Amino acid sequence: MARSAPILADSTLRLHDLEPSSEEFRRAAVAGLSASPKTLPCKFFYDAEGSRLFDAICELPEYYPTRTELAILRRNAGAMAEAIGPEARIVEFGSGAGIKIRLLLEALERPAAYVPVDISREHMMAAAAGLAADFPRLRIAPVCADYTQPFGLPSIRGVTSRATVGFFPGSTIGNFTPTEAVAFLARARRLLGPGSMMLVGVDVPKDPHILEAAYDDAAGVTAAFNRNLLVRMQRELGARLDLDGFRHEARWCAERRRVEMHLVSLARQEIVIGPARFPLARGETIHTENSYKYAVPEFRALAGRSGWLPAEVWTDPDNLFSVHLLRSG
Ligand SMILES: C[S@@+](CC[C@H](N)C(=O)[O-])C[C@H]1O[C@@H](n2cnc3c(N)ncnc32)[C@H](O)[C@@H]1O
Repeated sequence: MARSAPILADSTLRLHDLEPSSEEFRRAAVAGLSASPKTLPCKFFYDAEGSRLFDAICELPEYYPTRTELAILRRNAGAMAEAIGPEARIVEFGSGAGIKIRLLLEALERPAAYVPVDISREHMMAAAAGLAADFPRLRIAPVCADYTQPFGLPSIRGVTSRATVGFFPGSTIGNFTPTEAVAFLARARRLLGPGSMMLVGVDVPKDPHILEAAYDDAAGVTAAFNRNLLVRMQRELGARLDLDGFRHEARWCAERRRVEMHLVSLARQEIVIGPARFPLARGETIHTENSYKYAVPEFRALAGRSGWLPAEVWTDPDNLFSVHLLRSG
């Protein structure tokens, strides 16, 4: 980890900074490019430029998850707030631009505190500053951390909450394999503590054409987002590689019920990071992201395996997306 001591980000937002270091990125890139098939972890998509590109993806006509989940939240925020109760402390995993949380915060009765957790520090801090301006009575304690690694929740002086609620929208849970998702939810349950709840946005299987278009848009924004991993390796790791030597690919894998994103090598070539050389054959791919899709009963069963009790579920009229409430018991 780069830093562990809390630093003062501005006069109101005290950032707890556990941002992964460039050395962690280097180790992960070297390990992933040494593997067969080659991989790179999707969490490294999200530097400032990656977050900007993700926000642009959310606006694309092909990217149905964001607008569908927003509509579910808009329609059901009252019921969600009622299930959560007053004076809740909300911990958002992968908070990003912090747009969806606004709908919940507006519906909740006297929310006690908001803890956004994200790996993309500047982007998270900008979103937190916007929320602080719009919700002046809310205590906000941002945490820059990799939520796949252990971290603690910041204590916020003077704040007592009746319940702690995890919020994990965006179908980001689908970026884990099912085994990883169970482990993540179990860790989140321990982190949030007894009596906690969790709201999770989960994408559901559908026509492969809709799925593949959502991850391979006509304007090429998702392609740029995928390629940003290579740009980031050049800039942060001094990697030598041919940016134009790769094309973006999104494919639905029916057997595993996931959309895979790959960077496909257009020629025989090498990526060089320091003394390490990684040869690629023409057509060889670097697997950069999975987005698993779960039907409602499948996700409820998965959540149950992690120790949560699946409770209410909200969906849209076309059953494109689902939002699940989990209770710790
Ligand atoms: C798919 S985006 C979703 C953003 C937002 N929650 C939404 O629903 O639109 C994933 C978010 O999680 C963050 N993220 C991805 N992997 C992470 C990790 N391992 N630890 C912390 N944050 C992560 C990214 O920076 C990004 O903001």
